[in-house]
Amino acid sequence: MSKALGSKYTIETSEKAEEYYEIVKDLLNSDIVKEMKNYRHHYSTTCYQHSLNVSYYNYVVCKKLGLNYKQAARAGMLHDLFLYDWRVEKRKKGELPHGFTHPKKALENAKQHFDLDKREEDIIIKHMWPLTVKLPKYPESYVIVMMDKYSAMVELGSYFKGKVSSIYKNVKPAKRTH
Ligand SMILES: [Fe+2]
Ligand SMILES: [Fe+2]
Repeated sequence: MSKALGSKYTIETSEKAEEYYEIVKDLLNSDIVKEMKNYRHHYSTTCYQHSLNVSYYNYVVCKKLGLNYKQAARAGMLHDLFLYDWRVEKRKKGELPHGFTHPKKALENAKQHFDLDKREEDIIIKHMWPLTVKLPKYPESYVIVMMDKYSAMVELGSYFKGKVSSIYKNVKPAKRTH
């Protein structure tokens, strides 16, 4: 069972998430997308959970704005399909840092396994804009730029919330002296 961080709806079973689930079901059930569960991304969030967060919020925002929410949801799920641990992966000599290079890697992997149209490709390859210099071509590509950052902030918040509550759990109440 999966949930976007900060959402109360279980993707696979909630009526409220039914439309979203139908759009991304084949991706969530594919081995290549599931592989992202093996890699940690931001803080304690896996790449899979981060991609689900971005995909779900892409869907919600693009639907509200009257944009192409189906492609935004699908590309969101694939935008970080780079499949390595960027903390330990050694960079080749002269290669730019992960932040600049991973959209291309994710797009290559996504294209190997799924049929993508031009808009989905643009959403994936430009999600790190302005690091990826070329301007996004579609409004959905600007949405992912924001939802990617938003999701990272939610993931950071959840990480620190977990830290703080584990500290409080370990604090023993002071003994009363009188
Ligand atoms: Fe990314
Ligand atoms: Fe991302």
